Amino acid sequence: MSVLTMRILPDPILRRQARKVGKVPANMKKFTDDMIETMHAELGVGLAANQIGSLQKVAVIQLPDWEEALVLINPEIVKQEGEREVVEGCLSIPGYRGLVKRSVSVRARAIGLDGKVIRIKADGLLAQALEHETGHLQGSLYIDHLVTPDDLWKIPQDGEEEEEEEESGEDSGSGQGTAAEDQETGEQPE
Ligand code: NI
Repeated sequence: MSVLTMRILPDPILRRQARKVGKVPANMKKFTDDMIETMHAELGVGLAANQIGSLQKVAVIQLPDWEEALVLINPEIVKQEGEREVVEGCLSIPGYRGLVKRSVSVRARAIGLDGKVIRIKADGLLAQALEHETGHLQGSLYIDHLVTPDDLWKIPQDGEEEEEEEESGEDSGSGQGTAAEDQETGEQPE
């Protein structure tokens, strides 16, 4: 497996629509293994193919408590319910977080590496990740869904302490004075 080069905004491929995969090609397993390895290397919970320079309609998701990544070929959101505001980031927009509007729950459909249909009913972080990654495959980014244009902020970079919601999970009580303080915490889809 290989770690692939991440495409970073303003790389135009992030604004392109991915093409639906027909019959799952034999090399798809290798391709998605590389996507998964790249996602792990970047500490993301999801990755869409255009983020590594491919316009195949493919995404991978692995929530923090999952043992394996989920490979989604031709993923589509088929139903969205409710609305909530959540903090989000993206590996292709390093150094930033934003407050976005997302659905409370979604239903999604895709096919797996074996060509069989996968149906997912999700809420919480998985719903957020599904909306984030299917968005990528349509050329959409989380910054298109900000609650207001001001709801985007810089986060500390390497070497600086990142006062963050990840890992500890508990509110440390030392917020940065950003909108994030009032939001649901947890890992962010990337
Ligand atoms: Ni992303």
